[in-house]
Amino acid sequence: MGYKVVVVGATGNVGREMLNILAEREFPVDEIVALASRKSLGTEVSFGDKTLTTKDLDTFDFTGWDMALFAVGSEATKKYAPKAAEAGCVVIDNSSLYRYDPDIPLIVPEVNPDAIEMYSNKNIIANPNCSTAQMVVALKPLHDRAKIKRVVVSTYQSVSGSGKDAIDELWNQTKGMYVPGQEVAPSVYPKQIAFNVIPHIDVFMDSGDTKEEWKMIAETKKIVDPSIKVTATCVRVPVFVGHSESINIEFEDFLDEDEAREILRTAPGILVVDKREDGGYVTPVECVGDFATFISRIRQDVTIENGLNLWCVSDNLRKGAALNAVQIAELLGRRVLKKG
Ligand SMILES: NC(=O)c1ccc[n+]([C@@H]2O[C@H](COP(=O)([O-])OP(=O)(O)OC[C@H]3O[C@@H](n4cnc5c(N)ncnc54)[C@H](OP(=O)(O)O)[C@@H]3O)[C@@H](O)[C@H]2O)c1
Repeated sequence: MGYKVVVVGATGNVGREMLNILAEREFPVDEIVALASRKSLGTEVSFGDKTLTTKDLDTFDFTGWDMALFAVGSEATKKYAPKAAEAGCVVIDNSSLYRYDPDIPLIVPEVNPDAIEMYSNKNIIANPNCSTAQMVVALKPLHDRAKIKRVVVSTYQSVSGSGKDAIDELWNQTKGMYVPGQEVAPSVYPKQIAFNVIPHIDVFMDSGDTKEEWKMIAETKKIVDPSIKVTATCVRVPVFVGHSESINIEFEDFLDEDEAREILRTAPGILVVDKREDGGYVTPVECVGDFATFISRIRQDVTIENGLNLWCVSDNLRKGAALNAVQIAELLGRRVLKKG
């Protein structure tokens, strides 16, 4: 016996990837339904070798369904996730709406799987921000060994992190650069994204940080350890899929770069590719479609007492969203619902 699974936002970047990953990982599904807005009613989406016809979220009854993987914006989540949860269907949500609610678990299964026990508070589980998810997978095993005091992270985030319209904007703007009269003005982003980088993701806060930077700080504390200090600069780059991060870590105890490399090699969810030669590191185009978080360029930072630098790359639609959500569904199944 398997699960009755709802995928909400099934026509979007994350929703489509959730369907792919549920099929790839042979999640025990008895019945599955794909939901999106009314305008997508009847749109076909793939689930393994099957095709699902999208239904309207607005009229869907969640009663009798085991779990709903939500990948719609916060506004639609606010309207529909409580309906699902109240109907007894456990919500696994990709938006930022519930991440900072102390009663709702925010889970990266390699890092804090035990938080799943809190799911029953509201029948809702939150999935972290894409840039946080891949970073905490790398931080946790190092923190367990040498206790992290402070993290300085700079991100290089792909446009797929802003939804399907952003992918079109990069594509059309890039093509338009070469065709006189077909230039495409910025619309999703505040400045040109083609052949450019933009040090601004999400809204500005009073502190001067952007909301994306604040999310990395708050979510790392909630998932790994509230004592870890984080400062972040989040940057959008003209890459379609795959987020990269330069991470500088200051530890309480000394951690040698070779030992750090060995710890990361055996840590769950991580693949270390770290050769000090041309191409001996991973770039975003190589991580697309993969489950792993890739770590490269592991080296001592000798400018501080116990410092380490590393380079972290992952498929933001996978570990940063859909894969993590499916891993949470697997955890929920294994630990709580116990079907399949
Ligand atoms: N992309 C990432 O790397 C990433 C990472 C972490 C979290 N997230 C979060 O995941 C969510 C989805 O992101 P995305 O990148 O997949 O966006 P997207 O490509 O723009 O897709 C949005 C999906 O939501 C549906 N939707 C929007 N409003 C709706 C409504 N009122 N009723 C029903 N369906 C509605 C859309 O359906 P239609 O096609 O019918 O409009 C579409 O299926 C967002 O909350 C985002 O912040 C994304």
